[in-house]
Amino acid sequence: GGSHFSLLSFFAYRMTARERWRVYKRISFMFFLAVVTLTVLQRGNIMSMQDFQSGRIERQARMELMAEGDKKDSISVNFWKSVQRVESTTEGARLTQKQGPTMWDVTSSNCSVKLNFSSLEWFTGLEANFKQFLLYRHCRYFPILMNHPEKCAGDVDLLMVIKSVITQYDRREVIRQTWGKEQVIDGKRIKTLFLLGTSSNEGERANHQKLLEYEDYIYGDILQWDFMDSFFNLTLKEIHFLKWFSIYCGNTRYIFKGDDDVFVSVPNILEYLEVSKDLKDLFVGDVLFKAKPIRKKQNKYYIPQALYNKTLYPPYAGGGGFLMDGPLARKLYGACETLKLYPIDDVFLGMCLEVLQVTPIRHNAFKTFGLVKNKTSRLNREPCFFKSMLVVHKLLPPDLIDMWKLVNSDLICSQKMDFL
Ligand SMILES: *[C@@H]1O[C@H](CO)[C@@H](O)[C@H](O)[C@H]1NC(C)=O
Ligand SMILES: *[C@@H]1O[C@H](CO)[C@@H](O)[C@H](O)[C@H]1NC(C)=O
Ligand SMILES: *[C@@H]1O[C@H](CO)[C@@H](O)[C@H](O)[C@H]1NC(C)=O
Ligand SMILES: *[C@@H]1O[C@H](CO)[C@@H](O)[C@H](O)[C@H]1NC(C)=O
Ligand SMILES: *[C@@H]1O[C@H](CO)[C@@H](O)[C@H](O)[C@H]1NC(C)=O
Repeated sequence: GGSHFSLLSFFAYRMTARERWRVYKRISFMFFLAVVTLTVLQRGNIMSMQDFQSGRIERQARMELMAEGDKKDSISVNFWKSVQRVESTTEGARLTQKQGPTMWDVTSSNCSVKLNFSSLEWFTGLEANFKQFLLYRHCRYFPILMNHPEKCAGDVDLLMVIKSVITQYDRREVIRQTWGKEQVIDGKRIKTLFLLGTSSNEGERANHQKLLEYEDYIYGDILQWDFMDSFFNLTLKEIHFLKWFSIYCGNTRYIFKGDDDVFVSVPNILEYLEVSKDLKDLFVGDVLFKAKPIRKKQNKYYIPQALYNKTLYPPYAGGGGFLMDGPLARKLYGACETLKLYPIDDVFLGMCLEVLQVTPIRHNAFKTFGLVKNKTSRLNREPCFFKSMLVVHKLLPPDLIDMWKLVNSDLICSQKMDFL
């Protein structure tokens, strides 16, 4: 109920008097669709809450590995300055040699199930979701349903792309009002896009799809592909974006890619990028260097031996939010093409980076594996802390709005806060 109200009042707030009649028509239309899908949406909200709670526990599981793994590389010398890494090799150059398409060239999604290993012993012992993943693993690209080639027209300094799902329209709305607002800061052009697949529930699909099309009609910031939005398909979202970027964004300098429930400080990101502008192959985030594949079956990130049998993952940045430069993204597209899909999207991207022999940079101002473990710690509610961060994970829309207001008020912070 509450989120519909705020969506409508937000629309009303943006319209000029001249457009009032059209606004009324739009609002009535929105309201009609909202009422039609009310039950469905409520179910979606409950699910996302459960997802949120279990997600927190599982992220702690990933975070514990980080705490044991490598404490020493987290000391930063100067505030934004990061550790310099090895330069990449000619491998990346080789992978970007071939000329790609100039528009999205996938028009058919009739990818058939691969059954020839379904009788093998290791396969029959797997959980259902892994079976499904493996049966469709070879289906790499799907048609595009909503496209915005114009987003990258001209020079773009920072393209912010946010993974979202159809039912989380309230998160998208809050992001547009806060850190995702398209603007020019100190002459730097910032653009925003949301990345979506299709609804995983047949019944929901029709109504939600109409709402989404309307949302895109108003804001023009949604990229949607014709694959089901599911946890294992996040890897598809990753490669679809990289391919899309390689086709349309030749003059885009940097990319921020993240979840729809993070707090992002765009001024800090710009400051960081300014300091790092001489770095080649920039890839920075909340990096885990010696994470182990998780073998506990009840964990969301569980991976059976049959799928990955090494003891460690390559270094990878938490998918909640990271920064990379445009040329590297194009090389990553080529590098990922050489690999089989892996069900965990951020680990998969780490594997692509490994192909390029690029080591991601870890920066303490990215908190994508959750905040400090002690929930009562004042850092979790301290605006000066948020003011010094680049990316902080998990904030639901009302908390994000509150923190945004605090951080952008006349808040006086003596200095950028220490991260440790
Ligand atoms: C799938 O699409 C391809 C090309 O679009 C076509 O040649 C093929 O017959 C289709 N297969 C099925 C099973 O529809
Ligand atoms: C499955 O079939 C493909 C060709 O259709 C073949 O290349 C592959 O080796 C087969 N895999 C198994 C496990 O039999
Ligand atoms: C990923 O999306 C495709 C296309 O919608 C679907 O066939 C497949 O089952 C999905 N895979 C998983 C693991 O959800
Ligand atoms: C690990 O997997 C690779 C390829 O799937 C295989 O060649 C190798 O024998 C496996 N190693 C072990 C220890 O199972
Ligand atoms: C958590 O932090 C609070 C305040 O900083 C402190 O009083 C409390 O003892 C801490 N709890 C744990 C388990 O460390």
